[in-house]
Amino acid sequence: MKNIIDTLLQRTSIRRYEMQPIEPEKLSLIYQAINNAPSSYNGQQYSVIAIDNQPLKEQIYALTGQKQIKTCALFLVFCSDYHKIEVATRQKELSLPPFQRTLDGILVGVIDATIAMSNARVMAEALGLGCCCIGYIRTAAPRELSDLLQLPKGVAIVCGLAIGHPREQPDKRPKQDEALVIHHNQYHTNGMSELLARHDRNIALYNHSHSIGTTDKGWAIHMTEYYKEGMSYHTLDYYNQQGYGVVEEYDV
Ligand SMILES: Cc1cc2nc3c(=O)[nH]c(=O)nc-3n(C[C@H](O)[C@H](O)[C@H](O)COP(=O)(O)O)c2cc1C
Repeated sequence: MKNIIDTLLQRTSIRRYEMQPIEPEKLSLIYQAINNAPSSYNGQQYSVIAIDNQPLKEQIYALTGQKQIKTCALFLVFCSDYHKIEVATRQKELSLPPFQRTLDGILVGVIDATIAMSNARVMAEALGLGCCCIGYIRTAAPRELSDLLQLPKGVAIVCGLAIGHPREQPDKRPKQDEALVIHHNQYHTNGMSELLARHDRNIALYNHSHSIGTTDKGWAIHMTEYYKEGMSYHTLDYYNQQGYGVVEEYDV
């Protein structure tokens, strides 16, 4: 087991894996870490679909184009989940406020699922496994995936996590200067332009030496390209279809 400092400070995303299943004791620890994640009100507004079935992983790969999904040993799909509370309140004949239709309700499910994913990732990495978060499962074909995984209303995909024994050790990617990330006591903008310009150059240098076909795009270009692509995602439609969606008036 790695110590927590190395686990958190030496980590990188791992996208290539050995063809080797994850040991049952490691799986059990990952699942316990997911289940012990902090959650809003201890409500556990999240669920995870754990996928180790190879044909199913290949179907998900075909829908998303993310190769790690078919080559990893285990693919975890983290979902926001208001279905469980619906079942529990129906049993007790309670009326359930449509909290998931408020912005805060959506955030609660997404935050809970994301923290659970982080717990899984840290545990897996501490156990010597490699991980890669996969946001494309929410953006590429969420409706088809939800049908495939038989998600009921109230359950919506937040993010995926590919886990396996690492077959690569990539260089760490450049991160922003700590002053751009940690603001002491209040938000500071002094010196921000210079630090961001330096970060942009660091990303360009990294991309120049690490990309296939060597691009030297800096951070700003890289991000505008990503956000441009993101403008075509239909996440609100998808969340609405799953029984979420912010509405103006609530029928409580
Ligand atoms: C929410 C989230 C979604 C991500 N989605 C993808 C993805 O769909 N495909 C992928 O290859 N990497 C994905 N990543 C991994 C990021 O690209 C990676 O964390 C980032 O480039 C920084 O590299 P590092 O993790 O090695 O520090 C995702 C990461 C996060 C946190």
